[in-house]
Amino acid sequence: MAGLRYAGMVLLVIAATMAMTEARTIVVGGSENWRFGYNYTDWALKSSPVSISDKLVFKFDAPHNVYLLPNLYSYLKCDFKGAKLLAGAPEGTEEGFEVVLDQWRLYYFASSNDKDCSDGLMKFFAMPLPHWK
Ligand SMILES: *[C@@H]1O[C@H](CO)[C@@H](O)[C@H](O)[C@H]1NC(C)=O
Repeated sequence: MAGLRYAGMVLLVIAATMAMTEARTIVVGGSENWRFGYNYTDWALKSSPVSISDKLVFKFDAPHNVYLLPNLYSYLKCDFKGAKLLAGAPEGTEEGFEVVLDQWRLYYFASSNDKDCSDGLMKFFAMPLPHWK
């Protein structure tokens, strides 16, 4: 019984947390934008959790870009085989390029230019949580 009550309370807290999250617009990297050498893994950790229907905005200049990588392996290896180009220059300038996280899945993002992904740390993943609505 005590276990059940505890589980119920945890569910309630989760529900309350989810209900409070309105769709947000999040600039990737904050004031650092999408650039070589900023730690986006760290940024993503600090910016989590994100929710389904949140919008990510990538602001960048050439030669950087935004790819969606197909899986964890390609993400870890910075392997762009089978990756999907979402935006190149000049789409990142001014208002930036927007991606709506509209699915409950893992999104692997990276920039493909030269060593952007491997040495420049221009990669992160996001797993948006569903809204409680
Ligand atoms: C980037 O941040 C992550 C998470 O905080 C950390 O594990 C990693 O070592 C950092 N990478 C570099 C190159 O600083």
